[in-house]
Amino acid sequence: MNVLGTSIFLVLLLEAAISICEDDKSYKNCSEQLTYTIRNRVQAPTFEYSLQIPFCHQPFIRIMERAVNESANYKFTATYFPTWGYFIDAINGVKGFYTVNQTWWQFLKAPNSILPVGVSSYYPEDRDHVIFNFTQSGGH
Ligand SMILES: *[C@@H]1O[C@H](CO)[C@@H](O)[C@H](O)[C@H]1NC(C)=O
Ligand SMILES: *[C@@H]1O[C@H](CO)[C@@H](O)[C@H](O)[C@H]1NC(C)=O
Ligand SMILES: *[C@@H]1O[C@H](CO)[C@@H](O)[C@H](O)[C@H]1NC(C)=O
Ligand SMILES: *[C@@H]1O[C@H](CO)[C@@H](O)[C@H](O)[C@H]1NC(C)=O
Repeated sequence: MNVLGTSIFLVLLLEAAISICEDDKSYKNCSEQLTYTIRNRVQAPTFEYSLQIPFCHQPFIRIMERAVNESANYKFTATYFPTWGYFIDAINGVKGFYTVNQTWWQFLKAPNSILPVGVSSYYPEDRDHVIFNFTQSGGH
């Protein structure tokens, strides 16, 4: 790489670093907003929380990360699969055991539409109300 190439490369690197650092602050300026609810009425500890979150065009997993930053009530764990992205294992420590007792986390758009894609593929729309609903039922 010549000197010019090297410096262009460095500028690009620097810009990438700045945009990552500003991400957390700049999303607050996005005009889109959604409501994110997590609900578990099936087993202890039961809970239901809702948050309003501003967002830009991005997959729902990024909004879940933001919710963790905003509120201690929104912890989650996930497993990453190369072909379909993140699969949510547990929310606030509550984990589904579908093969044992048909418990699982439904990914819904309010009031009760099951989203046909996962958290890495779902790009919410402005004013969406997205719900993770812990359920005990067939149909996973
Ligand atoms: C969460 O907060 C950390 C620390 O301030 C920040 O680095 C990170 O970008 C934030 N994540 C999101 C998704 O906003
Ligand atoms: C958000 O928007 C306001 C008004 O347009 C602007 O002054 C501010 O710098 C922006 N903040 C970020 C973090 O982009
Ligand atoms: C389902 O099974 C798991 C694992 O044994 C258990 O921890 C959980 O309490 C059970 N939930 C219900 C609703 O039966
Ligand atoms: C959520 O889970 C509960 C418990 O299984 C169930 O009764 C309810 O129909 C589910 N769906 C919605 C939209 O609340």
